[in-house]
Amino acid sequence: MRVLVTGGAGFIGGQIVEQLAARGDQVVVLDSLAAHEEPPEHLPDSVELLVGDLGDERALRRAVEGVDAVCHQAARVGLGVDFDDVSDYVADNDLGTANLLRALWRRSFTGRLVVASSMVVYGEGRYRCPEHGDVRAEPRRRDDLDAGRFEPRCGCGADLEWAAVREDARLDPRNVYAATKVHTEHLSFLYGRESEATVCALRYHNVYGPRMPRDTPYAGVASIFRSALEAGKAPRVFEDGNQTRDFVHVRDVARANLLALDSAWTGAANIASGEPHSVGDMARALAAGFTEATEPVVTGEYRLGDVRHVAASPDLAAEALGFRAETGFAEGMADFAHDPLR
Ligand code: UD1
Repeated sequence: MRVLVTGGAGFIGGQIVEQLAARGDQVVVLDSLAAHEEPPEHLPDSVELLVGDLGDERALRRAVEGVDAVCHQAARVGLGVDFDDVSDYVADNDLGTANLLRALWRRSFTGRLVVASSMVVYGEGRYRCPEHGDVRAEPRRRDDLDAGRFEPRCGCGADLEWAAVREDARLDPRNVYAATKVHTEHLSFLYGRESEATVCALRYHNVYGPRMPRDTPYAGVASIFRSALEAGKAPRVFEDGNQTRDFVHVRDVARANLLALDSAWTGAANIASGEPHSVGDMARALAAGFTEATEPVVTGEYRLGDVRHVAASPDLAAEALGFRAETGFAEGMADFAHDPLR
């Protein structure tokens, strides 16, 4: 199979490319290399690398030539610094996806399209009130957070309990990046409806592992903690450390992409380990991988835009794609303490 991987030099794209090449697929990578100081050495020799971004019509036209499947990973990720980033996110993610889809349309592409999405499309996770059952969590109030009341509350005042979020949860993007991922999904599914292509969106939870970008405002918490530990500093755990995430290993995420490329299933699925952990647990597990461990510090700070708990149901990905994560939390974090970062 000839597969185009956009963003194939990146953290997740690079692992997908390695796994595709290892099983003998012909891989074309389109990557701007904007996030790289030098051409990535990890790309297998058999891979055809086209350097360009999704605004480069010529590069796109070449990239889509003769491909049977497309795995769209190129995106501006993370939460951004502030609203000033809005135009860059929209240009890279919304318009970038639109340009890719237009190039596929002009070539009458009817193959398989897999797109990277994110758990951020849900906004908050899923919650239950002991009294009122399933309820939506509104954004947390500043005065609650200032007072150290981190759990989202029901209108009746009771603390909510979290539950695993399923794909049929309402989409509720609460930052610019999240809004661009919802749009990426919608545009891609529209392409599927208009063409004969089958389209699948993978909603990644908190991905970590080798070659994760190092300590930038756009990096996730695992990379920030790892960089702190390496510098001999204590990881700074915000809130009370009991906020929940699903940390899923990048090799599992790449494998999920291969399964999705091989399938014709249409829809959006969570890609998660199914084993949620608190951010405090993650900091401790990572610190345990360092010999001169610096104990994590729980700071009580908060970021207004952060969600409290996002745990995922991994069931749909298992049923529809046959995907179950294989790297356990303890093993993955022990390795991540020493994995090379980018
Ligand atoms: C992250 C990504 C998001 C991605 C999603 C799913 C970033 C900035 N966010 O969202 O783009 O779509 O995973 O893969 O990359 N925290 C600390 N100390 C710190 C930094 C963060 O305790 O130094 C806490 C935060 O308060 C939060 C949790 O860690 O509760 C997770 O933060 P982070 O990884 O930044 O964002 P997510 O919301 O999980």
